[in-house]
Amino acid sequence: MSNMKAIHLHTYGGTENLVYEETSIPSPGSGEVLVKVKAAGVNPLDLMVRKGWLQSIIDYPMPIILGLDLSGVVAAIGEGVTHLQVGQDVYGITDIKLLGTYAEYAIAPSDKVVPKPKNLDYVQAASVPSVGITAWQALFDVGGLSAGQTVLVHAAAGGVGSFAVQLAKAKGAKVIGTASSQNLDFVSSLGADQVIDYKTTRFEEVVSNVDVVLDTIGGETRERSWGILKPGGILVSLITSDPASSETAAEYGVRTATMFVKLEGKYLTELAALLDNGTIKTCVDKVLPLTEASQAHELIESGGKRGKIVLNIAS
Ligand SMILES: NC(=O)c1ccc[n+]([C@@H]2O[C@H](COP(=O)([O-])OP(=O)(O)OC[C@H]3O[C@@H](n4cnc5c(N)ncnc54)[C@H](OP(=O)(O)O)[C@@H]3O)[C@@H](O)[C@H]2O)c1
Repeated sequence: MSNMKAIHLHTYGGTENLVYEETSIPSPGSGEVLVKVKAAGVNPLDLMVRKGWLQSIIDYPMPIILGLDLSGVVAAIGEGVTHLQVGQDVYGITDIKLLGTYAEYAIAPSDKVVPKPKNLDYVQAASVPSVGITAWQALFDVGGLSAGQTVLVHAAAGGVGSFAVQLAKAKGAKVIGTASSQNLDFVSSLGADQVIDYKTTRFEEVVSNVDVVLDTIGGETRERSWGILKPGGILVSLITSDPASSETAAEYGVRTATMFVKLEGKYLTELAALLDNGTIKTCVDKVLPLTEASQAHELIESGGKRGKIVLNIAS
């Protein structure tokens, strides 16, 4: 068996460019593993790649297979890989230059793949990697959030936001989240102390003295967020296409950092422990077959979902 089914992108553009077709199974190089993919998480980054927005940074050779997050079973190991074995259940990420998880098999650097959380099925596990790592780094490594502090999480019902709310709560922080009306109860159920309907309430009129703002939105939402920070507080932005201004931060007497996530496997082990002991949970809104990757992209674009969209690739 040397062929597999995958979603190919031959040219940048709309969802009609996502083509389900046959291609060859890749072989793992030194330090890599081949994973028989059971499920692939879908991220806004996949949409950005599809549209060609990353072209100035990464020159992807066409056709490419999209997808960063995966869960599955190790099918083969490359030279020098000693900590994983064929047949092992794993979850993790590929490399941003490699992608490739919208497929029956995918290559991943072995240090970005760890044992799957035991209490999660493949679909649940595939929903975790990118957003879990991003939320962790933004809150703790960059934001320096500690127990007793207050954090405002924008887009708290989204993939990153739903993890951020739970991780911040587990740390002992006070958590405020923004979401639209149909997601207010959901965000409360994740442990948020206060949830604001951003469509009907101007959050800056009801929130102040915040230590950390997690900016997943940018634009006007970011501009209205500066004033809710306490002196010395920090706005951590994930919107790398429009970095937050350090001049504006200085005017408000606060700090800012715009981060691009470092996709390192060590975070996955920590997240797996928290997921397995029930401290946090992952929220899968919709599961679609690999053939429906275009619908998955449309669902992310239309908003209103809770947590993640996952492609089920059990073959
Ligand atoms: N820099 C990085 O390394 C990095 C890493 C991961 C993600 N990101 C970025 O971070 C953002 C969030 O990612 P994600 O995976 O969490 O996306 P997601 O799962 O698609 O969630 C986005 C959510 O944003 C909410 N939303 C839209 N407009 C809003 C507003 N004005 N105020 C508050 N919430 C609003 C919507 O929720 P409602 O239905 O409740 O309106 C939507 O579900 C994306 O832009 C993504 O590209 C960056």
